[in-house]
Formats: sequence, structure tokens, C-alpha cells
Amino acid sequence: MKKIILGISSSIAAYKACDLIRMFVKGGYSVHVVTTENALHLVSPLTLETLSGNPVYSTQYSRDRREMGHIELKSDASLFLVAPATANIIGKFANGIADDLVTTTFLSVDCPIIIAPAMNPNMYAHPAVHRNIRTLKYWGIEFVEPAMGEAVCGDEGLGKLADINEIYAAALNVLEE
Ligand SMILES: Cc1cc2nc3c(=O)[nH]c(=O)nc-3n(C[C@H](O)[C@H](O)[C@H](O)COP(=O)(O)O)c2cc1C
Repeated sequence: MKKIILGISSSIAAYKACDLIRMFVKGGYSVHVVTTENALHLVSPLTLETLSGNPVYSTQYSRDRREMGHIELKSDASLFLVAPATANIIGKFANGIADDLVTTTFLSVDCPIIIAPAMNPNMYAHPAVHRNIRTLKYWGIEFVEPAMGEAVCGDEGLGKLADINEIYAAALNVLEE
């Protein structure tokens, strides 16, 4: 069974990762979730664990040795998918910052990586975000581009998380290669 590491950061779209997990599990993949600590304000680890059927890791500093399981995960993962990816996590990835589990996973996996950004249209339009995305693309990292629409705050424009069917299809493309 192929393993996917799903990284979830603290976008309001984090709840959509729950449907993605269900799709992957139904598709016969094993899903292992790592979240930023901030993401846990927006989505419950119990929900993610129940849907994925696997423990969810959010901290590097647990004294529970079983938490170290995430390190073995990296060695045989077929895909590291980050959905949704905040402006913050994209900035950290592009600058080699490794101050939590999602960013250390980013630096240490040796499988393909796909990033699906989600943020307010003004944030997505900011040159800092564009520069970071350009850097990551230059390194060969694939993006599932965000969609047009109305953000939760009411702003209109590009920045909504791509349709999860599109993210799923992009992941399958890599997984079935
Ligand atoms: C309710 C809420 C929704 C948010 N949604 C987004 C979002 O969609 N995209 C984004 O880049 N930041 C969003 N933020 C801001 C991030 O949570 C914030 O930048 C945070 O520091 C990112 O942390 P992380 O990347 O470690 O998860 C949101 C914040 C709140 C309170």
C-alpha cells in the first residue's frame, strides 16, 4: 500500500483536507497526517486520526517514543502533499526554515512533493508569496494552483484552495507514475 504524508497548515480550508483523506483512503492509499501546531486550532486531530486510521503528528518534542514513528514514515512515503499550504508555510519551505514538524518533513523527505496553497487573494498576490512559490517551482516542486472565488473574509480573487478533485488528480498522477 503506497504511503502519502499529508501536511496540513492553518488555513481556513484545513477542513477540506478531511475529504481528501477520505478520498485517498478509499483509493487504497495509506495516509499519514502531519500538521502545524496552528492547524490544530482549525481542525481536530481526532477527526484526522479517525479518517486516516493513523496517528496524527504535530510536534517534534513528544516524550512518547511512538511519536518518533513519523521519522520512519519519511523513508517509504510515495508523496508528501501539503494541502492546504499557508503563505507562512510556503515562505518557510522556500527559505529552508525547519521549526516544526511540517517544515522538517519538507526538508527531509526524498519523495515527490505537491503543494496546494490557500490564502486570502491579497496575500496570494503579494510579491513575497510569488517569490517563494517561484523558488519552490524552480526546485521542481509541483503546485496545484489556487482557484478564483470569494475568500471567507469576503475578498474576491485568486487564492482559494483548488478543488479537492483537482488536488486528488494531481496526487494520483504522481502516485501512479
Ligand atoms: C481563521 C483563520 C483562517 C486563516 N486562514 C488562512 C489561510 O487560508 N491562508 C493563510 O495563508 N493563512 C491563514 N491564516 C493565517 C495563518 O493561520 C497564520 O499565518 C499562521 O501563522 C500560519 O501558521 P502555519 O503555517 O504554521 O500553520 C488564517 C488564520 C485564521 C485565524
